[in-house]
Amino acid sequence: MNGKADIGVIGMEVMGKNLALNMESRGYTVAVFNRTESKTKDFIEGPAKGKNFVPSYELQNFVSSLKTPRKIMLMVKEGAPVDGFIEKLLPLLDKGDLVIDGGNSFFKDTIRRNSELTEKGILFIGTGVSGGEEGALKGPAIMPGGQKEAYQLVEKIFTDISAKAEDGKPCVTYIGPNGAGHFVKTTHNGIEYGDMQLIGECASVFKKTGMNAEEIAGIMEKWNGKSDILRSYLIEITADSMKEKNKAGEGYLVDIVADITRMKGTGTWTIQSALELLVPVPTIASAVFSREMSQDKDLRLKMGTILNIPEAEKLPEDKQKLIDIAHDALYIAKISSYAQGLALLQAASREYKFELNLGEIAQIWRGGCIIRAQFLDEITKAYKENPSLPNLLASPKFSDFVNKNLWKLARFIEIAHKSGVSALGMASSYDYILQIASPVMVSAQVSALQRDYFGAHGYFKIGGEKQPEIITNSEKKMREFHTEWMLPGRPEKEITK
Ligand code: 6PG
Repeated sequence: MNGKADIGVIGMEVMGKNLALNMESRGYTVAVFNRTESKTKDFIEGPAKGKNFVPSYELQNFVSSLKTPRKIMLMVKEGAPVDGFIEKLLPLLDKGDLVIDGGNSFFKDTIRRNSELTEKGILFIGTGVSGGEEGALKGPAIMPGGQKEAYQLVEKIFTDISAKAEDGKPCVTYIGPNGAGHFVKTTHNGIEYGDMQLIGECASVFKKTGMNAEEIAGIMEKWNGKSDILRSYLIEITADSMKEKNKAGEGYLVDIVADITRMKGTGTWTIQSALELLVPVPTIASAVFSREMSQDKDLRLKMGTILNIPEAEKLPEDKQKLIDIAHDALYIAKISSYAQGLALLQAASREYKFELNLGEIAQIWRGGCIIRAQFLDEITKAYKENPSLPNLLASPKFSDFVNKNLWKLARFIEIAHKSGVSALGMASSYDYILQIASPVMVSAQVSALQRDYFGAHGYFKIGGEKQPEIITNSEKKMREFHTEWMLPGRPEKEITK
């Protein structure tokens, strides 16, 4: 090894090891450290043998093995382990050194860490790294947030190790200050949950019609065709994994896998943030709720003996017609889900001053990450053409398709429900479209009066007696009223503040 290392990686679990190997393969000398020594040894004597790595078994030595300003990437479990390493590193670092957290951390932790380290003169980046094991090794999508000058220190390394989209553009860009990168990564994961749920619902309906796993895989393979609008990594791996045979006996692996989906928490964080920011994300929420429901197998077994779920009636469509309907239904449901995720990013950008560029985010999601998909090209173009789109569904690239084909999503949901298959994700996507395109939400009018009736909470009217169509969402322009429901004649009073 000549001289000092260009960058250091702490954490020799699979993501850390693969990211370190990726860096080394692009010509960088990489220092490595792990809390348990044996993991570093196994790495150095295994995949790293003969390569440009500098192992250390003491944190002090690891820090000393780095060029200054030091760049240290933490690839450890989110939460306490990140804080623990930062605490141990701090006395060993100099002003201007950079710590990077590459785990799936909660963005508010990242904001806190950024400000604590800034006070001490240490730069800090919280970055999303998406693409799983293979992505980390061959090229992930990278979503870094932190100080601009911190990003500049690693821009070249991150660009070199990142995935490249089909047009050769790197799947990394500066996302924004402090927690912006981790917020975007969390939302990416929420969208990932939504995609997985929607694809799973298509498979459920197909299965109910009597198709076996291999036939369903064949449909997904076609949907992943070169110019298909659904072409994406998640469709590709669904097809590939559903074909897998049951090695222990008859049939397919998917049919003997327990119907329980676990989760590490990023989907939940996405909907928690959406609740805080008052942004509806029903498809993403439906995916989290479905995972939750999947986990209580005992309850489902019991309830299945109590409640009579409709059995598949003879499905009205012929097979090919059903497949075509499902294809377009899935595409619309996906557009709706991405519209929700991007709306969340827009709201977070306003609230936390992230200054997110949605076009660039869609652009870097085109390669490397789990949600990489052909249609992210279209999303990128939509935001490049009009950066102030009020919602993704407002782009003619998507509204035209939705306007022509929305009935197919409705039909798919009807088929699913009539044959006793839940379509919570599809229905959530459909209802999001119905709600966002409702000039008048009668349910909201009814609830406004209910609240005033039982709690004297008041209701808004604009221009006195004018119709609700012209109400804008600026409460300042609206007049607030309360009806004295219990008094004779129910007098209405204007509430003035
Ligand atoms: C990625 C993945 C990655 C990981 C998720 C899985 O972008 O590479 O999203 O972050 O696989 O943590 O999340 P769940 O365990 O919550 O499904």
